[in-house]
Amino acid sequence: MDYEQAVEEAPPGWRHFSVEDIARLPHSVRTHELARVPPGEDGERVVRALFWSLVYHLEPRRWDELASFEPIHPDLVEALPQGADLGLDVGAGSGRLTQQLVSRCHDVIAVEPSAGLRTLLCRRLPSIHVVAAWAEALPFPDRCSQLTAACGAFGPDEAVLSELRRVTAPGGVMALISPERPEWFEAQGWERITARATRPPDHPAWIDDFFGPPSPPRELLMAKV
Ligand SMILES: C[S@@+](CC[C@H](N)C(=O)[O-])C[C@H]1O[C@@H](n2cnc3c(N)ncnc32)[C@H](O)[C@@H]1O
Repeated sequence: MDYEQAVEEAPPGWRHFSVEDIARLPHSVRTHELARVPPGEDGERVVRALFWSLVYHLEPRRWDELASFEPIHPDLVEALPQGADLGLDVGAGSGRLTQQLVSRCHDVIAVEPSAGLRTLLCRRLPSIHVVAAWAEALPFPDRCSQLTAACGAFGPDEAVLSELRRVTAPGGVMALISPERPEWFEAQGWERITARATRPPDHPAWIDDFFGPPSPPRELLMAKV
């Protein structure tokens, strides 16, 4: 999501955070996130733009609870390839997609920059190898994965897409569930599967107050390498 859109579309919970919270982000995360802030921005706009990063890194349980009320549509899980030797889940969060990859791949590695989310993921899926890294610099050799996947994490960002492509083996598949701007991927020749909209599960009121209404992922974009 570009900076201006992130400022405008920050969910109501942005008011829960302040400029001081940005200073509490781990150094490498702060550096990564502030790199996309234009010079001269005021504090409130920066907090709005960094809302999701503040949640992932400072309040990971809130994300985990939201994700539990936004299940991936079963038709999308069903459409993912089966039988990969290695599946990568990039930007894995607390494991919403990772847990689906476990039964579809021989081995699964989850990549997640938030320490809090990695802790939740390791507790939930203790047998999975979990790595701290950014999608822009995946610590894996070329062509190692037969299924390189992500859910709700990326959009048409060439720095990320070229890494996803690099680590995917010839004949392997890149699969993005509900990326930003799915129409962009479709125009580039990615296969697009859109599942029927479903009602989110009943959930506590704080979810709507903080994040806005839950919106379970229902788009899958896939490209063969
Ligand atoms: C919307 S959450 C989705 C989490 C998980 N994939 C799921 O479906 O529940 C986005 C995740 O991507 C991670 N993320 C954001 N930017 C990233 C980047 N540049 N590289 C790797 N992970 C990133 C965040 O830390 C967060 O866990």
